[in-house]
Amino acid sequence: MKIVKKIQEVRKLVAEAKSAGKTIGLVPTMGALHEGHFSLIRTAKKQTDFVVVSIFVNPTQFGPTEDIDKYPRTLDADTAGCEKSGADVIFAPTPDEIYPQQNLSWGNVWVNVEKLDQPLCGRNRPGHFRGVATVCAKLFNIVQPDAAFFGQKDAQQSIIIQRMVADLNMPLKIVVCPTVREKDGLAMSSRNRYLNADERKDAALLYAALQEAEILIAGGLRDSKKIIGEMEKIIKLSGRTKIDYIDIVNTKTLKEVEQVRGETLLAIAVKIGSARLIDNIIVDCN
Ligand code: PAF
Repeated sequence: MKIVKKIQEVRKLVAEAKSAGKTIGLVPTMGALHEGHFSLIRTAKKQTDFVVVSIFVNPTQFGPTEDIDKYPRTLDADTAGCEKSGADVIFAPTPDEIYPQQNLSWGNVWVNVEKLDQPLCGRNRPGHFRGVATVCAKLFNIVQPDAAFFGQKDAQQSIIIQRMVADLNMPLKIVVCPTVREKDGLAMSSRNRYLNADERKDAALLYAALQEAEILIAGGLRDSKKIIGEMEKIIKLSGRTKIDYIDIVNTKTLKEVEQVRGETLLAIAVKIGSARLIDNIIVDCN
């Protein structure tokens, strides 16, 4: 496995792999890798021949109140995990390599996926999805993969990236892989490491609330307000949790629905201590 920092280097390795007839998979990450990422890499390796993992803490998706310097950086452990999971290349560029034009006075190019970037996490993180879409567009152009792999945990992100790829006619497939969970159901996330022991226990409430919703829906309840009310009760079982949102939305438009019918996303964001955790499930019912 090779580790490269320059766009030219990763392009050369990809070009060599393509000329040997290989298909290319890309797993975009910000590092601090965990089992959720490693399962994406393993899936990428099953579906494509040559897997590039990008590790780049993308400054443009952090808001002014979000401390990018505090974002965990664990390159040695990430490298070992990537190698074990079957990655062929780690692309770990510097911010200047990805955004050299940022200091130029004529301004920057952004990818805005309108409307879809407003609800859910977009409400409290203005500009976040513009940063995500822009860096993903750049990574897709740099690596030119046949497929890119994302986790279902970041449902809104996956939906936005899928829309960008479709609307901008980008020639790659987006593969969304199931959320990987701890034994108590907590979705794996780089942010889980910010939780202390008590907070870590409380964090299991997110998935408990989603499971309760699933049971209610399976039992015939369709009223979103009632379902959200029951989910809130579970999250509030701990005094340490602060609900950012619990929303029930259409999976294509991300618009809130009054009744759960067809493919529907139940999404939740909760602050526990200094960590803001997100999770979701998709249900499909009549
Ligand atoms: O999900 C993430 O880690 C990031 O948002 C991504 C897709 C790597 C873009 O920086």
